Amino acid sequence: MPAKTVAEKPKSVKPGKPGAGAGAIAIPEGFPKPEAHRMGMLPPYLLGRINAFNDELRAKGVDVIDLGMGNPVDPVQPEVLDAMRESLKDVKNHRYSQAKGILPLKQAFARHYERNFGVELDATKEIIATIGSKEAFSHLCLAILGPNDACVVPTPAFTIHMYAPIIAGAHPIGVYMDEENPGEKLLADIKRVFETVRPRPKFLVLNFPHNPTAKTVNLGFYEEAVAMARHYRFWLLNDFAYGHSCFDGYKAPSILQVKGAKDVAVETFTMSKPYNMAGWRVGFLAGNPHLVDCLARIKGYFDYGIFQCIQIAATVALDEGDGFMKNQALVYQKRRDALLAGLEKNGWGRTIKNRATMFTWQRIPEKFRGMSSVDFSFKLAEETGVSFTPGGGFGEEGEGWLRMALVDTEARIAEACKRVSGFLKKG
Ligand SMILES: Cc1ncc(COP(=O)(O)O)c(C=O)c1O
Repeated sequence: MPAKTVAEKPKSVKPGKPGAGAGAIAIPEGFPKPEAHRMGMLPPYLLGRINAFNDELRAKGVDVIDLGMGNPVDPVQPEVLDAMRESLKDVKNHRYSQAKGILPLKQAFARHYERNFGVELDATKEIIATIGSKEAFSHLCLAILGPNDACVVPTPAFTIHMYAPIIAGAHPIGVYMDEENPGEKLLADIKRVFETVRPRPKFLVLNFPHNPTAKTVNLGFYEEAVAMARHYRFWLLNDFAYGHSCFDGYKAPSILQVKGAKDVAVETFTMSKPYNMAGWRVGFLAGNPHLVDCLARIKGYFDYGIFQCIQIAATVALDEGDGFMKNQALVYQKRRDALLAGLEKNGWGRTIKNRATMFTWQRIPEKFRGMSSVDFSFKLAEETGVSFTPGGGFGEEGEGWLRMALVDTEARIAEACKRVSGFLKKG
């Protein structure tokens, strides 16, 4: 399939009607609609609908096995909890912190990147701590993109990679990724967009290991992407949320490992997935100092930084959590094995073995391909209590696929596969 060079809106983004999502809440007579124009660009958030449906099932007594959202279920490292408890006792930690993050946290992040990826970062200029990596990405888009700007995003895509540019008023251009791990073909398709679309897009968003497809790349891919960014003069971001969630000996490269990457690129990182700290809301943006500064300047207007006790505890995780992260990746690897084996044994058909993330990305079984992925997953949940995320939620290129999150025990995953088997037989 050729690259989609849709300058207006990618097909995968279906804007709602202005005010869509406001539901049936009445506006007092004579008042203007409170929603700004950009709210009309946002369709209802699919995960919200799925969660509401699962809650309805639970209310009816169904034991839901929820493999939908990538929300870690495993515990946080005890040393991190101890550091949190201790830091709570100090009255100074309850004041406003710093919007950019405290220096010891950024220094711990620099040590982490040096140890794990051999990347040197200046904690004062090349790192900013953020309220999760989603916040980093969203506010960076607001800081660097505006009307008449375009950016390029491989699809299917993590929802915010499309919608943060849209909220910023810019045009994301989707470039379809086929079933293979990305390599020359995706790079050639991206290159074509930068050669043909005018005004030339300003920004390329990568995300490997990838959500939702779990695709991975090697360092050579980033080397070419960085060379392309220099040649065509665009900025580059890699969302590295799953950089430590790797299986079977695969080690995901950081884009910042590429020589000179910091001239053109930044990377987001999160404590949510490798350290099971999703609710703590700690992430980072690192790399090019100008982009880091752009984010810092806009954040200065929006927030006062993460609660300082959380920053102190996150410092401990970054310094002492390398072994913890490896074990957590192994937990996901074993669940992936249990899920793929269980699906194949129970009549799903051939599955695809991924080597990273906390998901697997699987085709809907042959005989159900006439249904949309949304209809299939709602029907499956209704009849079995097993909930997966429909691929169509990540853009129309995700149709025909399901994302399965590895967020329950191997025993529960085996139980989910048995329930699915009954559904497949009945068809
Ligand atoms: C690719 C990707 N980036 C970012 C995030 C959000 O991470 P955070 O919790 O740091 O905001 C997620 C969460 O699912 C994700 O899948």
